[in-house]
Amino acid sequence: MHTADLDDATRKAARALLAEVFEGDLTDDDWDHSLGGIHALAWEGEELVGHASVVQRQLLHNGRTLRTGYVEGVGVRADQRGRGHGWAMMAELERVIRGAYDLGGLGATDEAARLYAARGWKLWTGPTYALTPTGITRTQEEDGSIYVLPGSVPLDLAGDLTCDWRAGDLW
Ligand SMILES: CC(C)(COP(=O)(O)OP(=O)(O)OC[C@H]1O[C@@H](n2cnc3c(N)ncnc32)[C@H](O)[C@@H]1OP(=O)(O)O)[C@@H](O)C(=O)NCCC(=O)NCCS
Repeated sequence: MHTADLDDATRKAARALLAEVFEGDLTDDDWDHSLGGIHALAWEGEELVGHASVVQRQLLHNGRTLRTGYVEGVGVRADQRGRGHGWAMMAELERVIRGAYDLGGLGATDEAARLYAARGWKLWTGPTYALTPTGITRTQEEDGSIYVLPGSVPLDLAGDLTCDWRAGDLW
């Protein structure tokens, strides 16, 4: 459902779940990045055990601005992993991406990279950049962790990829 349709309890449960999943490493900016788009939620009974969302960003590639469905806040409670929740949430977000965006994008943890690759996401092998208030900046530390879900726009995975500006982690 869209962020606008999350009730207060679900919004709080999603944030608490991600704080637990990322072991206290979820910043206000991280949470903010996962808002304003479509959320996929996994439930076991009344309990929220999985969250993932897709929000709109602009990525620049080959002289074009690409409307991108950027995946954020992917997490499944530790005791519920390996049961297909991550797979199911990604399937739903990819449906949204294919129907609404030029491509999908995300920054993967090592733990999640195999899941994304198994679902057809492609590792971006070229250099990454960010468009910042002071110009285009190289984001070398993110190289090798950015995945895209290609759509109809041709992509050169070994080429340059630049993300738009935001507070907190840029990718
Ligand atoms: C990454 C994470 C979200 C995966 O959630 P999950 O619910 O355990 O994932 P699933 O059970 O759907 O998938 C687990 C495995 O089964 C595979 N799988 C699941 N359903 C499948 C299906 N229907 N067909 C084929 N393979 C399937 C997945 O590809 C994955 O394979 P892997 O073990 O090689 O990685 C979870 O481990 C997590 O929360 N990790 C910590 C936070 C994190 O790293 N988040 C990612 C941020 S980018």
